[in-house]
Amino acid sequence: MSTVVETDVLIVGSGPAGASAALALSTYGVPNIVVTRYASLADTPRAHITNQRTMEVLRDLGVEQEVVAQATPQHLMGNTTFCTSLAGEELGRVRSWGNDPLVQAEHELASPTRMCDMPQHLMEPVLVNAAVARGTRLRFETEYLSHTQDADGVTATVRDRLRGDTYEIRAKYLIGADGGRSKVAADAGLPMGGQMGVAGSINIVFEADLAKYTAHRPSTLYWVLAPGATVGGIGAGLVRCVRPWTEWLIVWGYDVTAGAPDLTTEYAESVVRGLVGDDDIPVTIKSSSAWTVNEMYAERYANGRVFCAGDAVHRHPPSNGLGSNTSVQDAYNLAWKLKLVLDGTAHPRLLDSYTAERAPIGRQVVTRANQSIRETAPVFEALDGLSPQTPEQLWANIAARKDSTEAAGKQRAELREAIAFKAYEFNAHGVDLNQRYASGAIVPDGTPDPGFARDPELHHQPSSRPGARLPHAWITSGSRTLSTLDTVGRGRFTLLTGIGGEDWLRAASAQDLPVATVVIGPGQEYEDPYGDWARLREISDEGALLVRPDGFVAFRHASAAPDAGELLADALRTVLGHA
Ligand code: FDA
Repeated sequence: MSTVVETDVLIVGSGPAGASAALALSTYGVPNIVVTRYASLADTPRAHITNQRTMEVLRDLGVEQEVVAQATPQHLMGNTTFCTSLAGEELGRVRSWGNDPLVQAEHELASPTRMCDMPQHLMEPVLVNAAVARGTRLRFETEYLSHTQDADGVTATVRDRLRGDTYEIRAKYLIGADGGRSKVAADAGLPMGGQMGVAGSINIVFEADLAKYTAHRPSTLYWVLAPGATVGGIGAGLVRCVRPWTEWLIVWGYDVTAGAPDLTTEYAESVVRGLVGDDDIPVTIKSSSAWTVNEMYAERYANGRVFCAGDAVHRHPPSNGLGSNTSVQDAYNLAWKLKLVLDGTAHPRLLDSYTAERAPIGRQVVTRANQSIRETAPVFEALDGLSPQTPEQLWANIAARKDSTEAAGKQRAELREAIAFKAYEFNAHGVDLNQRYASGAIVPDGTPDPGFARDPELHHQPSSRPGARLPHAWITSGSRTLSTLDTVGRGRFTLLTGIGGEDWLRAASAQDLPVATVVIGPGQEYEDPYGDWARLREISDEGALLVRPDGFVAFRHASAAPDAGELLADALRTVLGHA
């Protein structure tokens, strides 16, 4: 072991967490190296649901359009169907992922972006290519083995799997984005709560033209209630669209206590045949793999100079489609903080806010995703399908709902209700967007927490209270229409004010740190022709919002302030950890 390679940030892993950490850091001009164990990026579709918050992050990092161009659009995602097989009986549908007209309006009001379906094997190259183009140095077939840290940095030992030798990489900070079996998190001793291996699942990737069963009810997900579908897995058999309507991924459970079945092509074909229900359609199996449903989260995301992100610190099933979304958002939260600490603008104390802000979100996501699995059971219960029984008995129970009897009417009502309740998995807009941070990098404004007027898991509630993401409103600049979110980000702090906010503008220009300014009002650089911003901003024209590089409000003052210079300087000192 001779060479020591040096960098500012070493990132272990090129999945959604590591790739977006690299992209954000390179965008901000921070030297970084990514090492990843395998010879390629993700070679199976895995994560796919990409929510509005992630799209906002990608918009700020300049890759939103590339993702939109490759993704399946929102309107083809939304007829989540429950059926006995694709060719079999349909039991009901949920208009999901923002495709219910009422929910769609909430999506449009909440964000300039649209949810989409971007399979992980397409998303990773977009993130990684952009990161490398902006300066990231990427090493495939390079395995992280161990690390030590001291007062000035971290020394990681990695193994070049091609040559077989090991070498050291010296970095000021290490990001462990090495997934659900994170060695970095284990080596850093991050305390974990919860349980791994709650249930067993199999992914089968295959090609088949299933348009005849799907194009008339376009969806990302088709849930199959067939015999055996309640064993392990994620609540039912799942046929997931990877590319409409020819590439697919089946998720099918197994009894985790018995171990994974032998994943032969014959076995995979038999599962596909069972869920598709049409033996005449040609099927090509591409791959199969076994994985477990986990319910685990880290209480702390960092130890000294080592930070973990993504599945390394929150491990949960794909329900609600939160895994890669949360991973991208972890990285985005961490990257600007590392940049400001590395360039000496912020005190390292700023980095404490990473755990304070992201660990509660990770825990919420793990809990939500696992609860969503449990909430599929009532769909089976409505069909008396939970207790062990013969396939014939299950089909008879399912058929019984068509009878003209009081019992069948009750069964139909229960089934409708159980399926509609799955909105908590397929339309949880609040889970996606209602993140509220409380940490040293947020300056409370003394106003009481108003809570949520509606179910906070289902409905987004905008707020400009410190700790909330800046509300989105469409504003104009000349002939250009843009979102308030487009005025912030790009690695900078931004101060938003209105007519009469001159004290705040002077205050912003007097800070050591560059603070971008945005004035919204008639005759100003930005105008609010619909009055949406005035309705959402929760401050007066003369007040101010200080927004962090990640789009979260750090400080808010409702009105004009003759001492604006001092107030803003204090706020920045607090946020940057100098107070
Ligand atoms: P990820 O596991 O993706 O990446 C880990 C990286 O670390 C890899 O590049 C690996 O090579 C590398 N690595 C590991 N150990 C290493 C070592 N010792 N040295 C060097 N490199 C190492 N999520 C979502 O948001 N929406 C969705 O719809 C779905 N759907 C979905 C379906 C299915 C079937 C599954 C199994 C999962 C999902 N997910 C999901 C979850 C999603 O796939 C998962 O949350 C993300 O991939 C996590 O991203 P990370 O970057 O944290 O880890």
